[in-house]
Amino acid sequence: MRDGGRDSAILPGMPGSALKRQSIAIVGAGNLANALARSLHKAGYPIDLIISRAPAASLRRARRLARQVGASAVSGRRAKIQAQVVWFCVPDGAIASAAKSLLEAADWKNKVALHSSGALNSDELNVLRGRDAAVASVHPLMTFVRGARPPLANVPFALEGDRKAVRTARSIVRDLRGVAFNIGKQQKGAYHAWGMFLSPLLTALLAASENVAAAAGVGGKTARQRMLPILRQTLTNYARLGAAGAFSGPIARGDADTVKKHLKALREDRGAQEIYIALAQAALRALPAKNRAALRKILKA
Ligand SMILES: NC(=O)c1ccc[n+]([C@@H]2O[C@H](COP(=O)([O-])OP(=O)(O)OC[C@H]3O[C@@H](n4cnc5c(N)ncnc54)[C@H](OP(=O)(O)O)[C@@H]3O)[C@@H](O)[C@H]2O)c1
Repeated sequence: MRDGGRDSAILPGMPGSALKRQSIAIVGAGNLANALARSLHKAGYPIDLIISRAPAASLRRARRLARQVGASAVSGRRAKIQAQVVWFCVPDGAIASAAKSLLEAADWKNKVALHSSGALNSDELNVLRGRDAAVASVHPLMTFVRGARPPLANVPFALEGDRKAVRTARSIVRDLRGVAFNIGKQQKGAYHAWGMFLSPLLTALLAASENVAAAAGVGGKTARQRMLPILRQTLTNYARLGAAGAFSGPIARGDADTVKKHLKALREDRGAQEIYIALAQAALRALPAKNRAALRKILKA
């Protein structure tokens, strides 16, 4: 069946009637683009184009990804976009300018344009709205780094934008076996701060933990290996029991002298000490603790 001038994919063996997949062009070939393009391809979406910046290195990265998902790679200057959906996978600060640079690369009327910033809303694509495209922000609450390809099944996706674009995004997310939910424009700042806690700041905490391990005489890779069992169990407990049920240690027990000893041991590592105090105070505010008054005093001092 012809759709928007291109063949839509028909998936054999799918339950119910044969499913059509809209064709997709992806702008960028970085961490998100690599994971997303592969997952979309696997879910039966035809990926038409991977659109890159002009430098040879950018185009090379786009070509490498394009090869893996049966797409063509092209620089923005030469792009002629036929795909029904255009997904901007560029850094937050480049979304609006990338959209502007592709204004003449397509007839935007009836197209859906998506971006995946967690913090910015669909207005970033206003320039395409002005050409009658339907636009939305579609943010997967997941971390994508080089060398890791997380499956998108069960990943929550926060959606916000024009009705048609949100409907399209919801259907794509469903095909990726993710979990779509709506987010308000005004909530995106807090939403993305939440995401920041869940991976980047957690990773910063782990990096600080490695320094503390080194002070205890456990260095480098060994520290990482020795940390993993307790980290995994903490996540398992959190998933099963919630934060209060997963909380153990001297604050839960009210061992004020132990906390004092920790602070003394961390005197040489100012950064780790600050993190310790901030998190211990947060624990005192939100989690079951004994001997609160004494602990509060020690942490203030
Ligand atoms: N990484 C994550 O964990 C994650 C999670 C959820 C959402 N996101 C969102 O996903 C988006 C992309 O993030 P990322 O982590 O994938 O970034 P990234 O790894 O830095 O990749 C960005 C890509 O954008 C390309 N690019 C930059 N400006 C461009 C332009 N004007 N036209 C075409 N391509 C351009 C870069 O190409 P060059 O090769 O030319 O540098 C690079 O391929 C962001 O909005 C981010 O908020 C990321």
